[in-house]
Amino acid sequence: MKNNRLFFTAALLLLLTGSCKEKPKDQITEDIHPATLQETFKNDFYIGAAINVNQIKETDSLMAGLLKKEFNSITAENMMKSMHIHPAKDSFNFEIPDKFVELGQKNNMYIVGHTLVWHSQLSPWIEKIKDSTEMHHAIQSHINTIVGRYKGKINSWDVVNEALNEDGTLRNSVFLERLGENYLTTAFKLTAEADPDAELYYNDYNMCQPAKRDGAVKLVKKLQENGAKINGVGIQGHWNLNSPSLEEIEKSILAYSQLGVDVAITELDITVLPSPWDLQGADVNQNFEGNPKMNPYPDKLPDSIQDKLAKRYQDIFALFLKHKDKIKRVTFWGVNDAQSWKNDWPIKGRTDFPLLFDRNLKPKEAYKAIISLKEKNKEDSRQ
Ligand code: G3I
Repeated sequence: MKNNRLFFTAALLLLLTGSCKEKPKDQITEDIHPATLQETFKNDFYIGAAINVNQIKETDSLMAGLLKKEFNSITAENMMKSMHIHPAKDSFNFEIPDKFVELGQKNNMYIVGHTLVWHSQLSPWIEKIKDSTEMHHAIQSHINTIVGRYKGKINSWDVVNEALNEDGTLRNSVFLERLGENYLTTAFKLTAEADPDAELYYNDYNMCQPAKRDGAVKLVKKLQENGAKINGVGIQGHWNLNSPSLEEIEKSILAYSQLGVDVAITELDITVLPSPWDLQGADVNQNFEGNPKMNPYPDKLPDSIQDKLAKRYQDIFALFLKHKDKIKRVTFWGVNDAQSWKNDWPIKGRTDFPLLFDRNLKPKEAYKAIISLKEKNKEDSRQ
């Protein structure tokens, strides 16, 4: 009895002194949201984030803490694209990519290499190649050197990125021009040879639009017929509040998984801003910068839109959970709103709110909405 009283007094004292002390910075996020994304979805799919140079270098301790607490997968947002990693024929920049891989390994994360063959952010020396043999050698040396260096360390590669037009035909890139449509098979085969255990993906945007979806299905089938290994299709997921419809997203998940490959949502973000393409007669080349109508929430997102965003994320994640057997990973294109490329595209200098964490790294309603999906499941199974 006496012992019990002593124990309770000691516990009370500990509690009081503990709560009066100022909390270390990295404990702040824990108190705000005890259930993390990676923990919540650990039996469903990986939860990833694209990260930039500062995040790779862990320059901000709060950001670094949040990243490793919430996410169990990372993708390099820009630093493994050819213009950065392979700027000249005989020169590679491995400093930041090495750090990126070390960060992932240190935190036991599923590491995604983005991206090997892409017409954009392409090294100028590759762009200039006129001869098909030279182009073959360029792709070969690019893939062998990079994939070889990270063999057994990078779990998954976006082997080819954005090879399709909106109508589902192949985009007219320097790769298609020099090597013909076989460049896709070549890229996948070279990657598989350089690291037989890595998972290989085809990755693109607008993958839920019917014509492009048909094109992507054809593309994957062609790779399979040609004997190339392909493990998955990446649906980028740069979406908005209304489009694509849940129905089209579902059709796409089903269409890709029926090919016998995994599906990953590789670059998820949901813009809340008006699009110049929605304006009647709008010409995207017109200058919309500085037009207040196109940047309606420069200071704060109104609660009504915050709620719409939360509902949209919740609906989308409910669908992902329904198809968790087909979905390997859901990666957000950035950690928080301040980092998002959507602040500068398609109009520069706007304030967008497309991710789950706000500019102060606080979880938004959308974060709570998707976590609550699993809490609801738990309650349902208890009843
Ligand atoms: O680093 C320079 C900086 O020095 C300079 O002052 C500044 C001026 O604008 O530009 C900075 O570079 C920008 C870079 O992002 C880093 O922030 C480039 O201009 C800008 O074009 C580049 O945008 C990237 C974009 O790919 C390029 O295509 C975005 O960050 C990146 O999020 C985005 O990611 C792509 C995926 O790889 C493929 N799918 C679509 C997705 C969104 O476009």
